[in-house]
Amino acid sequence: MAKRYPPISGKLPVMMHGADYNPDQWLDRPDILEEDLRLMKLANINVMAVGIFAWSALEPEEGVWTWEWLDRTLDRLADNGIFVWLATPSGARPAWMAEQYPEVLRVAGNRVRNLYGFRHNHCLTSPVYREKVRLMNAKLAERYSSHPAVIGWHISNEYGGECHCPLCQDAFREWLKRRYGTLDALNAAWWSSFWSHTYTSWTQIESPAPHGESRLHALNVDWRRFITDQTVDFCRAEIAPIREINADLPVTTNLFNKHDGVDPRKFADVLDVLSWDAYPEWHEHGPEGDAGIAAACAFDHDLFRSIKGGRPFVLMESTPSTTNWQSVSKLKRPGMHKLSSLQAVAHGADAVQYFQWRKSRGSFEKLHGAVVDHAGHGHTRVFRDVAGVGETLGRLTDVVGAAVDAKAAIVFDWDNRWAMKDAQGPRNMGLHYEETVMQHYRAFWELGIPVDIIGRHDDLAKYTLVVAPMLYMVDEASAARMETFVQEGGTLVATYWSGIVGESDLCYMGGFPGPLRRTLGIWSEELDALYDRDSNGLAFVDGNPLGLAGAFEAHELCDLIHLEGAEALAVYRNDFYAGRPALTVHSFGNGKAYYLATRAKDEFYETFYAKLAEEAGAKRTIETELPPGVTAQVRTDGTDDYVFLMNFSGSEQSIKLDGCRYTDMESGEALGEAAVLPVHGVRVMKRRAHAQ
Ligand code: GLA
Ligand code: ZN
Repeated sequence: MAKRYPPISGKLPVMMHGADYNPDQWLDRPDILEEDLRLMKLANINVMAVGIFAWSALEPEEGVWTWEWLDRTLDRLADNGIFVWLATPSGARPAWMAEQYPEVLRVAGNRVRNLYGFRHNHCLTSPVYREKVRLMNAKLAERYSSHPAVIGWHISNEYGGECHCPLCQDAFREWLKRRYGTLDALNAAWWSSFWSHTYTSWTQIESPAPHGESRLHALNVDWRRFITDQTVDFCRAEIAPIREINADLPVTTNLFNKHDGVDPRKFADVLDVLSWDAYPEWHEHGPEGDAGIAAACAFDHDLFRSIKGGRPFVLMESTPSTTNWQSVSKLKRPGMHKLSSLQAVAHGADAVQYFQWRKSRGSFEKLHGAVVDHAGHGHTRVFRDVAGVGETLGRLTDVVGAAVDAKAAIVFDWDNRWAMKDAQGPRNMGLHYEETVMQHYRAFWELGIPVDIIGRHDDLAKYTLVVAPMLYMVDEASAARMETFVQEGGTLVATYWSGIVGESDLCYMGGFPGPLRRTLGIWSEELDALYDRDSNGLAFVDGNPLGLAGAFEAHELCDLIHLEGAEALAVYRNDFYAGRPALTVHSFGNGKAYYLATRAKDEFYETFYAKLAEEAGAKRTIETELPPGVTAQVRTDGTDDYVFLMNFSGSEQSIKLDGCRYTDMESGEALGEAAVLPVHGVRVMKRRAHAQ
């Protein structure tokens, strides 16, 4: 049942609009700091993330604290009605600390300790670093957690990376002891008898290294899990002193993208609010339009929203214009800034924030886009676009707290990613897990069907349709949950290269897809891998229960399966396995389990999911045909629906509406039978909530 979540901050119960703000770079320019306040108001900004890399400005020498500038910044922001996400500065540290305590610096996989420099260059285990961070955070909390400007904590910055120092090696061994208990259990789980790698003492175990162990898959996946746990533990340790002093302020950390180093789902329990940084490369594909990039970014929004069970999230960073690190820093075309900002809101953001407020004058990011350019005033296209987004967000207060109530979910799992990528075979030139998941997602996006992106351990009860592409690594408990889901009436879609290994990377005995075999009603005997130049096809069989017809191209992997209760919906067209099942359905309990035995080209997925979603009751946002590159997303509070119609197609589009009464939330006008969207156009429309 759809509900309205409370606002992220009771102090600021509107759409948040703001940026990373680094007054610590401008302390010798009080005139600029004063001008900032004037410009912030002109830009319709109501929140700033302050102090993210300000350690040197806060503690210039060990034990010497300089709070005055931050006191003044927060006071002046409060005077001007601007709120603050106050940052802990652990993402970068002062030079004095590295000089005095070299253990705070990271050691790379080759076991060489880094020199001072860069950022995110710290050991997550180092007791010295943890203590320095604890002290800093406690002092910040004591001084500022009751400040009227402060609405929450921005913990560190984009946690990521790994350290292989002796302290981390010991911590890894302790982690393994907790996981396996005995060396015998570890050796068995890791199958270390292979190549005579049996460990006879814990101290023999080392993290993966380019000049050492790198072929023991279970070690590799456990190392990744350890890095995630150690990162989350560091984050938890950062939060502890802050909560001790004032547990009421929400904490977040800015996660980023779907990078594969750290599993972001593991942060769910330590954070109150999820936030992430989005940097899609708009217009990368030129005339092809932005649909592919938009769908990928939508996927990430859905992923991060789903981590906190659907609670509204914060888009903590996005660029108001360009980045300076992408291969080409292309300007956002007119309309794109508003479209991409509202895309985040459509997928559940209650805050649109930027990196950064004002361009630095020097160093690495001096040419990165910002709200305020080096020109120093607000008479720029970017500034006007930002102010415009602020104005629009000001009209969307009703959307704050409204939920994305998805009935469909796609499983995208980190352990599975790590394990699948690491394995040798069956197609070392590319299994394309991420791309495949995106391909399934893209169909839903084009159809305008809301989707959650979940992990294999997540609860399935609220969904009617669950898609789990290439679930190579699946534990028995997750498979059992999927079985219950189908038994109770759910629709499950699984594919080739699923149910191959369990939690510790040991292959399932007795036939693939292992613990999913009974639910899917098939046995996979062999898997054919295709060269890029090869293809096969799948053709729907006459009279299949989905009522679909036609043939679609298939490529990369073709699973040769036997029916064990399932029925064939489509068969292969070519090669020695022509005529054998390529798509099956198994009626199981009250539900249905589909198995797609091969990777199809894009056209297949939209046809397939249009039908399946309809059968499973995962509704389109608007009951209408959307042109390619146009999508619709909906948030709801159970009384009203807020429908976002977004045009990423690259050309003007007219969308036929579905007979509901829609009001445009920006202009207040009632819409008729169709909505016209210019290039990069977006409309936010309100209607009475649809009964679910
Ligand atoms: C990341 C960081 C920011 C900044 C931006 C630049 O997201 O969190 O500090 O470096 O990238 O795009
Ligand atoms: Zn370390």
